[in-house]
Order: sequence, then structure tokens, then C-alpha cells
Amino acid sequence: MADPKRDVDQHDEESLIGDGVTQGIVRVGDTVRRPVRPFTMTVQAYLAHLHAAGFSAAPVPLGLDSQGREMLSFVPGDVPREPLPPETAGEEVLIELARLVRRLHDAAQAWVQPADAVWGGIPGAQSTASTPDGEPLLVGHRDYCPGNVVFRDGLPAALIDFDLAKPTTRVDDIANALYYWAPLLHPKDRAPAFIDLDIPHRVAVFADAYGMTADQRHALVPAATRMIGRFHVNMRAAAQTDPAFNRMWDEGVKDRLPRAEAWIHDEGPAITARLTGR
Ligand SMILES: Nc1ncnc2c1ncn2[C@@H]1O[C@H](COP(=O)(O)OP(=O)(O)OP(=O)(O)O)[C@@H](O)[C@H]1O
Ligand SMILES: [Mg+2]
Repeated sequence: MADPKRDVDQHDEESLIGDGVTQGIVRVGDTVRRPVRPFTMTVQAYLAHLHAAGFSAAPVPLGLDSQGREMLSFVPGDVPREPLPPETAGEEVLIELARLVRRLHDAAQAWVQPADAVWGGIPGAQSTASTPDGEPLLVGHRDYCPGNVVFRDGLPAALIDFDLAKPTTRVDDIANALYYWAPLLHPKDRAPAFIDLDIPHRVAVFADAYGMTADQRHALVPAATRMIGRFHVNMRAAAQTDPAFNRMWDEGVKDRLPRAEAWIHDEGPAITARLTGR
């Protein structure tokens, strides 16, 4: 294989466009180059730990390239976009995603973050208090949006874009994955194939595949409710400071999040009942 650090000509680069938050992401051969941010080297150390711990369903961190950009391995597969396509609405997708998240958490558990760790967040975010006292922390992905899940053979196979990774609890990280993939949204805001799905059942399918404990099952709806409230506060703040977030806010986030808050308030008890068998 050619030396990935070799200087590249502009015409070797293929632009990668995701959700539009991060500009300047390109593919060069088997690698991806991304702009360096304050958290880049912390995320690279985390990714290195995951691979060393046997979790290979994430980009391999390759340091910086000769232009000072972050370099990662390109993860082959297909990345869905919103609205989620109908073929991603099957339970087997949820089951595989839950197994992936479980393997990520188990690999992350033993990692001790560097003393000078720097983590990312959405621009201008005010509310980061997410974790009830006493719950063990591990570094989770925290952004399981469709554009960050790589599919192979129709199933989730890897995770990319660890820009929002930071210490969290298993339950908070699970709530994030379920927000996008159950999804924990008002039917009006779901992709067409997800509108009529039985969400409490789907949450329970995820919980079984992950192997959630009784305590985690009881904690899920309160965690998801807090998370959606945080999303609302933080997305409103980000919309005021960042053009990409401003666009997302105007294009629907401003209505979707209050609707999600009302929906989880109404449907949360049914989800908890299904999860805990009561
Ligand atoms: N390591 C990788 N392997 C394969 N594809 C990648 C990789 N990194 C990025 N991509 C592709 O590029 C797209 C954009 O990258 P990324 O998700 O990192 O940025 P983004 O979507 O702009 O950021 P955000 O998710 O914060 O909005 C991804 O959705 C994916 O299609
Ligand atoms: Mg992304």
C-alpha cells in the first residue's frame, strides 16, 4: 500500500459531505482527512484504545498528514441519510446497532482518559449536565445519527465521526442511539417507514440485544427525557452561533424538539412499562 502520509495532489481528493457540520472532509485512497479541532488528538487516543481493546468497528486513527489534517482509515460501506430509508426500519437493524453499541461500551470501559483530554460539543452548548451522580462513566459515541453509522449487507457494521464523544453513562449513550433509531420522535417527525412502528416494542428489542440491566431499563426514559430537553436548549443556542446549526434549526429542529419533548412525556410510561415488564 502507498504511504498514506505521502503528499497528495488536489485531484486525489474526493469531498465527503455529511450533515454539513464539518467542512473540508475528504477521502484520499483508503484514508479520510478532516480538519484538526481541539479534541482531535483526544479522540485519536480513544480510537487507538478501542482498536487495542478489540473494537475494530471504528476508523483507525492515523495521526496527522503532511498538511496538518487529521488522518483516519476510510471505513467501507454505505452511510444512510435522513430521512431514513425503509430498508433500515427492520428490527434486525436495531439489534445489530445495539450489539455494536454494547461492544463499543465494553471496549471503552477500561480506558482512562489522558489528564489533558479535550472533548467536543455542539457550538455554544450550555447544558452538558447529563449524568446522575454515582453512575460509572465511560467515553461513548454520543451522536448515532444516520450519517454516522456505516452499513454493510444492510446492517450497521461500524461507527464514524466521534466528534461528540466524551465521558457519559451507558444509559445516556443508549438514549442517543434510540433517539435516532427507535426513533424517540413524534410520528410527524419520523421517516415514512418508521411512522407506524411500535416504539415501546422497538426500545425493548434494543434493550434485549444490548443486554440492558434492570437498573438501566428503569433509567432509560428519564435519561431520554433529559437528553431531549438538552438537545432543545443546546440546538437553540448553537443556532445562534453557527450557520450550519442555524439552518438545521430553521429547517425543522425548532419544531421537532418541542414535539419530541411532548411525545416522550406522553409515551415514556408505555416505554418504561414494556422495558421493565410491568
Ligand atoms: N472514516 C470514514 N470512513 C468512511 N466514510 C467516512 C469517514 N469519515 C467520514 N465519512 C463520510 O463522510 C461523511 C461526513 O463525515 P463526518 O460524519 O465525519 O462529518 P459531518 O457529518 O459533517 O459531521 P457531523 O456528523 O458532525 O455533522 C460521513 O457521513 C461519511 O459518509
Ligand atoms: Mg457525521
